[in-house]
Amino acid sequence: MPVIHPRKQKIDVSNFGTEIVITNAYLVYKDEKLKEKALSEGIHKLINFDGPVMTDSGSFQLSVYGDVEITNTEVIEFQELIKTDIGTSLDIPTAPYETLEKTEKDLAITLERAKEAVEYKEKNNIEMLLNSVVQGSTYPELRSYCADELSKLNADLYPIGAVVPLMENYKYRDLVDVVMASVSHLPDSVPRHLMGAGHPMIFSLAVAMGCDLFDSAAYILYAEDDRFLTTRGTYKLENLQEMPCSCEVCSKYTPDDLRSMEKEERTKFIAEHNLSVSFAELRVVHQAIIDGSLMELVEERCRAHPMLLDACRQLDKYSEDLEVYDPRIKKSAFFYTGPESLKRAEVVRHLNKLRKMDKKRDLVILPSSRKPYSKYINKSNIGDFYTYGSERELDLNNTDFMVLDVPFCLIPLDIDEIYPLSQNEAPKIRDIEAIEFIESFISEFIEYYDQSLINSKIMDELGIGLYNIHPQSNEVKFKRDDKRKIKSIADYQFGNGVGEILFEGNLKIEKSKKTGKIRHIYSDGELLVNMRASDSYFVLAKKGAKRLHKFKPCPENRVVVNADSEPFVREGKTVFSKFVIECDKDIRSNDEVLIVNESDELLAFGKSLLNHNEMMDFSTGQAIKTRKGFK
Ligand code: GUN
Ligand code: ZN
Repeated sequence: MPVIHPRKQKIDVSNFGTEIVITNAYLVYKDEKLKEKALSEGIHKLINFDGPVMTDSGSFQLSVYGDVEITNTEVIEFQELIKTDIGTSLDIPTAPYETLEKTEKDLAITLERAKEAVEYKEKNNIEMLLNSVVQGSTYPELRSYCADELSKLNADLYPIGAVVPLMENYKYRDLVDVVMASVSHLPDSVPRHLMGAGHPMIFSLAVAMGCDLFDSAAYILYAEDDRFLTTRGTYKLENLQEMPCSCEVCSKYTPDDLRSMEKEERTKFIAEHNLSVSFAELRVVHQAIIDGSLMELVEERCRAHPMLLDACRQLDKYSEDLEVYDPRIKKSAFFYTGPESLKRAEVVRHLNKLRKMDKKRDLVILPSSRKPYSKYINKSNIGDFYTYGSERELDLNNTDFMVLDVPFCLIPLDIDEIYPLSQNEAPKIRDIEAIEFIESFISEFIEYYDQSLINSKIMDELGIGLYNIHPQSNEVKFKRDDKRKIKSIADYQFGNGVGEILFEGNLKIEKSKKTGKIRHIYSDGELLVNMRASDSYFVLAKKGAKRLHKFKPCPENRVVVNADSEPFVREGKTVFSKFVIECDKDIRSNDEVLIVNESDELLAFGKSLLNHNEMMDFSTGQAIKTRKGFK
C-alpha cells in the first residue's frame, strides 16, 4: 500500500500494480479544506483512487509530536464519515526499548481503544473494516499478550505497529523477535500488516514471518533525498555511475540526466523507480511462494546487509513455528544457500521424522554418491567400516541403511527418492557449520542403535574424528527391495506402522517402462496407491484410503467435516474450511488426508491445501481438494 499524502501527493501511484493505498485520516481532519471535501465527496475522490483505501488515525503523529487533537471515537467516526474502507483506532506506538512500565501503560490504552473501536463499529452496524494494531515495544511477551487480547476482538486486520524505528536503525534481529511474538499469537485467517515497512530488501523476510500487507512512504521520502531503493540496499544518486535497475526510468535516463533535472522532476522519476522496484519485489515474493522457494529468496535477500543476515539467523529460534506453515511437498528443489539453510523447515522436519521412526537393531552409515543414492550405491564405494556400540555380525534384515548427506544428515536408503531428499542441491565444498551440524546429529542418532557401522570414507568427508572407533572389516551390502521400500515410504508419509497394513495381501508393483520407477501398487488386483513421479510420495486410491482409515485412530491423518457438507464430500466436491470441525495437528498443506464425518465414517480422501491451524481458523476458502468420495 503506497502512502498517499492527502495534501502534498504529486506522484500517481496507480500505474505500478497498486491495488490498495493508505492515507492519513488525521491529516485530512486537521485541514479544514481537505476535511470539508472528504466529508462531502469521500476519501476516494479526495485522493483520486477508486480501489480500497485504508486510513491511519494519527497515531504516527502522536508518536512523533507526543500529542494529537482528536479522540479515539472521533477519529473512528470521522473515518466512517469519509467512507474509508479500512479504518484504524488511535493506538499508542510505544518506541522500541521503552521501559517496561511505560510500555505496559501505553499498551493498556491501546487495548482499551481497540475495544472501543470494535464496540463502536458493532453498535452502529458500520461496514468499514477495522485495524487493531499490535503494540508492546520490544517486549516479546507484551507483543504476544497484546496479540492474544486483540484476537478476542475479531478485528478485520492486525497491523504490527511501532516497528519503523527498528527498521530505520537496522535492528532487523529485534524486528524478527517482535514480529514472531506478534504473529504467533494472531489468528491465521486475518491479514497482518507490517506498518511502515517500505524497503523492498525486507519484504521476503516479512512475508516468511507471516506478514501479508505493507505500507510505506519510503518510495517518496527516499526519492526526495535522491535515494534509490533496491533489493540490494539503497543507492544515492550522487554516487551512481550506472542506473540501478531496468525499470522505465532506469532504462530511459542516466544518472547524469537525473542530476541535471530540476528537483521536482528528479524526485518524481526516482519515486517511480522506487515504486517499480517495490512492486517487482512483491511479485518475486509471490512467485517464490507458488514455487516453494520463499526461504531460498529470504536467504538470498538477507545477504544484502549483515544486519539482515542476523535477522535471517534469528529465524532459527522459530524454526519449529515456521515448519508448521511450510508445505511438505513443493514444486522446486531445496537449495542449500549457506549455514542458515540447516534450520529450514525441511531439515527440521526430516530430523524429527528420523528421531521418531521405528528403528532396526543396527545402523549402517554409507558415504554419499550420486542421487538417488539407492540407485547408485554399490559395493565399489562401500569400503571399510568403523563400529560404534556393540561389535558383532550384522543381521541385514535387522539393519537400517542410511547415507550421510548435507544438509539432511542421514537419509534412509529406502526413502531416498521422496521430496526433498533427492530433490535438493548443496555445494560439494562443505562449510564447517554443516559438518558440525551433521556430526552432532549423528552422535545423537547412533545412540538409538545397538551397533552402528560407519563407513571410513565418511571420516575423510567430514575431515574430523567422529567417535571412539574400532576399525573393522565386515561384508556390508545394501540390497534394494521394493516391498521394504514402499513400506518405509508409507511409514514416513503416513506414520509408523502404516506400511505394514497398507501393503498386505497379494501385491503387484507396476513400474514405468521408461524410468523403472514405481507407478502403481495393487492388492489382489485392486489399486491401492499411485506413486507420484516428481516427489515419490503416495497418492491414495480408494482401497488405500480405506486401509489407512481402518488402521489409524481418529483424528490421525484426518479432517472431520460437519453433517451439512457430507453429501457434497461424498460426491467428491471440494471441502471448504467452514465445514471443518476437527483435524490432525500434524497436517501440512499438500498432504494426503482422509475426510470423515463426526462418527469417523470415511467420506472421501484428498489433498490438503492448508495446515491444521489454517483449516481450523479460516471460515472461507478451500481446505481440501477432494480426490474421490465414497457414495
Ligand atoms: N505507522 C507506522 N507505525 C505505526 C503504528 O505503530 N501505529 C499506527 N497507527 N500507524 C503507524
Ligand atoms: Zn529503476
